[in-house]
Amino acid sequence: MEQVFVVDTTLRDGEQSPEISFNPEEKLRFAQQLARLGVDVIDAGYPALGKDDAQAVAMVAQEVKGPVIMALAQPDPQEMEEAMEALRNAERGRIHLYIPVSPIQLKYMLNLSPDEAIDRASTSIRYARGSGLEIEFTLEDAFRADRGFILEMARTVQEAGVNFINLSDTVGGAIPSHVGKMVSWLRDELGSGHPILSIHCHDDLGMATANSVAALEAGARQFHATIGGVGTRAGNAALEEIVMALKIWDDLGLTTQVNTQELYRTVRMLMAITGVVIQPHKAIIGKAAYVHKAESHLMAVVREKRTFEIVKPEDVGYPRSPMILSKYSGRLSFEDKLRELGYSLDSDKLEAAYQRFRELVGKKREIYDEDVVALVEDVLAKRPGAFTLHEFSISSGSGQEPMARVALLQENSLREASSKGSGPIDAAFKAIDEITGFKGRLLNYAIKALTEGKDALGEVVLRVRIKGEEVVGRGVATDIVEASIKAYLDGVNRVLRGED
Ligand code: KIV
Ligand code: ZN
Repeated sequence: MEQVFVVDTTLRDGEQSPEISFNPEEKLRFAQQLARLGVDVIDAGYPALGKDDAQAVAMVAQEVKGPVIMALAQPDPQEMEEAMEALRNAERGRIHLYIPVSPIQLKYMLNLSPDEAIDRASTSIRYARGSGLEIEFTLEDAFRADRGFILEMARTVQEAGVNFINLSDTVGGAIPSHVGKMVSWLRDELGSGHPILSIHCHDDLGMATANSVAALEAGARQFHATIGGVGTRAGNAALEEIVMALKIWDDLGLTTQVNTQELYRTVRMLMAITGVVIQPHKAIIGKAAYVHKAESHLMAVVREKRTFEIVKPEDVGYPRSPMILSKYSGRLSFEDKLRELGYSLDSDKLEAAYQRFRELVGKKREIYDEDVVALVEDVLAKRPGAFTLHEFSISSGSGQEPMARVALLQENSLREASSKGSGPIDAAFKAIDEITGFKGRLLNYAIKALTEGKDALGEVVLRVRIKGEEVVGRGVATDIVEASIKAYLDGVNRVLRGED
């Protein structure tokens, strides 16, 4: 079997999705899970984008051992310096440079001539070589580019000394046969000893997984992908789909180092941190992906699972019958569950999480994995200086003007306000605005039950504009007004944090 290198770009390209945002601590937590998953490279971010991105890449580089940590930069000295600085403490770091090669992007994005692009590429690689980092170079929008120019660019970067050449289907418009032909053509043209060829596919035609597999069959030995396929527009190739395709079709002779049993846990963490909704029918990790309803299928699966299951749920860590906690579960079972879910908390956080668990069992009979993940993420999200909910009360009903009283704690100071509103949530948000002094504009609001049952935890994910900044907030509670207040405060705290 030949090894294929897996680059996870959830923290960089995945974050380009309007639905996804991570603060630096969340990035670190997710990166640690990616290391447990066994990806070869973590594309941790784009340091030149701003302070948060630079800090997050530096934290991941400092803390996460095992995978190579990668940072993006345009072939521009300032951006490259920022990426190199962020990677300074990485056990193994990689700088990822990129330039468009299609005429349309060269002209309308950078207004560069092909010769200028070649010149930038080769100068930047020579500059990066002094850093001791691995170097990856992406030919952006390669599948709408002229082959002659692709070859000229690829030879230039090869001669300049890159370790990886990545072909990007930036607009997600390619189809598998084109991708396969392009990769085998380039591999032949570059000859033996060429840099490792890599593929990065977007999903605008729904072909990203198929295109990535086609590239690997044709000789690429690295792919970029995100968990759940999250990413800009229609998203990126889904990491779990490609990994499982290679595992199931072992006659391709390709294998990865991914520990597939960590896949479900990884997507659950992504959902808990970002609130992103993964559609139930999503391949490999969707909630309904292993559920059989038709009687004839059910009967057959009972006799022999392979009749209707190409992927074994246990291979991806999907819980067939999740162990459920309840009020009878003590500290040991709770800690056991945390370990199973991949969390290792310091003693203060562990105590806080356990107290939240005890509160929850007072309100809810059965505690599912989703509930535990949600409450732990809630505890981990607490930061110094942040506003937290102390208490609230609501009055609303037919013919009554909704009214909310909210009390918030910031450090040790308790402040409260009351407000009317068009509904209880509007009233509560207005009361919060009065306390914080910010005026948030709600752009989007969604609520869902995390598990079955009338006593389920409600999860609110909202998008709010505060002081010109758009942030996502997430909150969970058995009471939906409380979940809404927590989500709104999460947004407020993210803005506050940006002001540090
Ligand atoms: O889509 C794209 O082309 C990219 C590159 C920077 C790899 O994300
Ligand atoms: Zn991309």
